[in-house]
Amino acid sequence: MADVVLKDMVKAYGRHLAVRGIDLEIPDKSLVVFVGPSGCGKSTTLRMIAGLESISHGELRIGGKLANDMPSRDRGVAMVFQTYALYPHMTVRDNLSFSLKLARMPKPEIAERVAKAVTVLELEPYLDRKPSELSGGQRQRVAMGRAIVREPEVFLFDEPLSNLDAKLRNQMRVEIKRLQQKLGVTTIYVTHDQVEAMTLADKIVVMKDGEIAQAGTTLDVFENPRSKFVGGFIGSPQMSFFDGKLTQADGDWFFESEALRLPVNAKRYGDALKPGRAVWGGLRSEDIVPAGHGLQPTNHVAIEGVVTLAEMLGNENLLFGTFGSSQFVSRMQQPRLVQQDEQMSFHINVDRLHLFDKETELNLDLESQQKDQSEELDQ
Ligand SMILES: Nc1ncnc2c1ncn2[C@@H]1O[C@H](COP(=O)(O)OP(=O)(O)OP(=O)(O)O)[C@@H](O)[C@H]1O
Ligand SMILES: [Mg+2]
Repeated sequence: MADVVLKDMVKAYGRHLAVRGIDLEIPDKSLVVFVGPSGCGKSTTLRMIAGLESISHGELRIGGKLANDMPSRDRGVAMVFQTYALYPHMTVRDNLSFSLKLARMPKPEIAERVAKAVTVLELEPYLDRKPSELSGGQRQRVAMGRAIVREPEVFLFDEPLSNLDAKLRNQMRVEIKRLQQKLGVTTIYVTHDQVEAMTLADKIVVMKDGEIAQAGTTLDVFENPRSKFVGGFIGSPQMSFFDGKLTQADGDWFFESEALRLPVNAKRYGDALKPGRAVWGGLRSEDIVPAGHGLQPTNHVAIEGVVTLAEMLGNENLLFGTFGSSQFVSRMQQPRLVQQDEQMSFHINVDRLHLFDKETELNLDLESQQKDQSEELDQ
């Protein structure tokens, strides 16, 4: 078994830096998901770990061993691709055993490993078929089987489910999670789908422009986004942002935008609070609650809004609307039919207002946390 450690890892293509110095520790047996928009460097990072791309700078350690220049086959990694990369002219059985035959493994051992993978993945009925005679989900399972038979120390998945329809994707996602837990193999999984990332991950790594924007548990990244980017990228539907500033009245702090005036938790933001400071206010859809529908936040401010579009999802509605000229999305529990351009009252959960600096777009609470830490150091 193996942990994977990346130290200041860089990938340069000519003068373009696809990966700009990544530091990350992936504990043994854990499932870590890289997520981020297209082109942010997820696949490149994974391919450097797999040994399919050279590492321009920095260190890669797998199971404690420096792996920068180790040949791919010696790294103990097995990769599953989006395109499956199965051999079209071979049966499922041969696809599964091919890499082991190449490695000149004794026949009984090959048979044993293939049988094990076939059982785990329930591939028994398809062993004599060719890939063209399989559904997308079945092909995906064969691709995983090919990785499993090698009994790797680390699984690498690059968007393995993106060619499947939504229902099958959900099903396979559960299977991958179960499989990973059962086999207990360190797994790095790349996706641009944040829902997939959140449901799978022990630890989630949000990437942007070749860097880590934030790494942490799903809950931590969701509850405490480091930046406006992370707040907007993680969570569905997207966080609503309001352009505003901080004001102070009678010793209390407020976030004020064109249409909102919300009290700010001075304890959370501490010294970051300065009168007139330009900030983004961020609210998740579940914290903009239609009055009278679902659980009402105890600490709230009521605001009138106009609903421009209602998406009926059955168990809930997503209400897209405006406060003044600012757009927002609200989640309506216990839904009813909502008319277009209907005026409604919303209760804003002020305890869950996120504040980001207008320029740097970093969460203001980072500043007060830094201060707390330096105060602790001073003591
Ligand atoms: N062989 C290459 N030569 C030059 N540039 C490359 C090469 N491969 C990738 N890049 C660039 O590196 C950056 C990161 O690419 P990468 O494939 O890692 O992105 P990604 O996060 O996996 O995106 P996606 O979600 O679209 O798969 C992109 O700007 C891409 O154009
Ligand atoms: Mg990619």
